[in-house]
Amino acid sequence: MDQDLEITLMVNGTPVTRRVAARTHLVDFLREELGLTGSHVGCEHGVCGACTVRVDGDIVRGCLMLAVQADGAKVETVEGLSDSKALAALQKAFHEKNALQCGFCTPGMLMAAQDLVSRKSRPTREEIRAHISGNYCRCTGYQAIVDAIEAVVNAR
Ligand code: FES
Ligand code: FES
Repeated sequence: MDQDLEITLMVNGTPVTRRVAARTHLVDFLREELGLTGSHVGCEHGVCGACTVRVDGDIVRGCLMLAVQADGAKVETVEGLSDSKALAALQKAFHEKNALQCGFCTPGMLMAAQDLVSRKSRPTREEIRAHISGNYCRCTGYQAIVDAIEAVVNAR
């Protein structure tokens, strides 16, 4: 029998308290319970990066973390970072460089890219590639994505 547990966490700056089944993954909780559907669900086993969210400052796979493990944590999704304008330069560059086609990978890709540019002021192309290597894109061939991230760091 599945057990419901009460959790309280901060999601995009707003305190949230809910009862959740212990087996609920964080990304499913965010999408289905809170309606934050910007984080996508692709492989559901930690490979594709579509579900990337930030927990207590670090990007994690939302499909590999249980919602109950985020009890007491500060969680940020692509919606929160967009609202805070943290992603504005990257979103503009992705648009200008045609760094998306279907867009399925894009929220996770933006989260990974933002993590890199917030930690490192002048990453090389190789470092950009390495940092997004855990985020799969089936459409673009990655070149335009790397171009977009590079354009943001070069504009600094
Ligand atoms: S859905 Fe989480 S890594 Fe693919
Ligand atoms: S734009 Fe389609 S998966 Fe990346």
